[in-house]
Amino acid sequence: MKFFIDTANLDQIREAQDLGILDGVTTNPSLMAKEGITGEQNVINHYKAICEIVDGDVSAEVISTDYEGMVREGLKLAELHDNIVVKIPMIKDGVKALKYFSDKGIKTNCTLVFSAGQALLAAKAGATYVSPFIGRLDDISSNGVQLIEQIRLIYDNYAFETEILAASVRHTMHIMDCAEIGADVMTGPLSAIVGLLKHPLTDSGLAQFLADHAKSNEGK
Ligand code: G3P
Repeated sequence: MKFFIDTANLDQIREAQDLGILDGVTTNPSLMAKEGITGEQNVINHYKAICEIVDGDVSAEVISTDYEGMVREGLKLAELHDNIVVKIPMIKDGVKALKYFSDKGIKTNCTLVFSAGQALLAAKAGATYVSPFIGRLDDISSNGVQLIEQIRLIYDNYAFETEILAASVRHTMHIMDCAEIGADVMTGPLSAIVGLLKHPLTDSGLAQFLADHAKSNEGK
């Protein structure tokens, strides 16, 4: 299972990278805006900075919603670095753009996916990754994790190569549920990733080991 971090914050990307388990980064226009990255050149520079930190796929999202615009923007983004994955929204022109990039051998991530039908279309169009937003489904009382299960079944039925990238992950249990189902990738915040570390028995066990070691070595 690949671990991507879902942020445009360079400090958090560095911290996850330092942990040694990071496989990539996903961003979106909202995450870029949150970091105050505005203007085309600054956005481009920011993607380059992310690619310098992480040796793995970095999703960069197009802003256009028409086919020609998405192709133009996506080609420009893909030229920035070998690790750039062009992120395309699940709309009609987006499906056409996914097919265009797939035919050209350029990696894509189909974003804003909320149903198995949308995921089927993304796979048919040759998307490298499909991003079902599980947290946002949970937000409206739908079951996000169940959608991952449904897509896994469909993709396995037909041996689609599109990787299921569980997105909008909010917490550690989302990660564990997706791992059980067999999502290929998860993208989430740093808090969810480091949350996997935590167990009170690890902390109390370590404290006991260190205390016993100190006691048995007293005066030696
Ligand atoms: O990867 C998708 C993500 O950026 C959306 O997450 O938490 O805004 O629903 P969230």
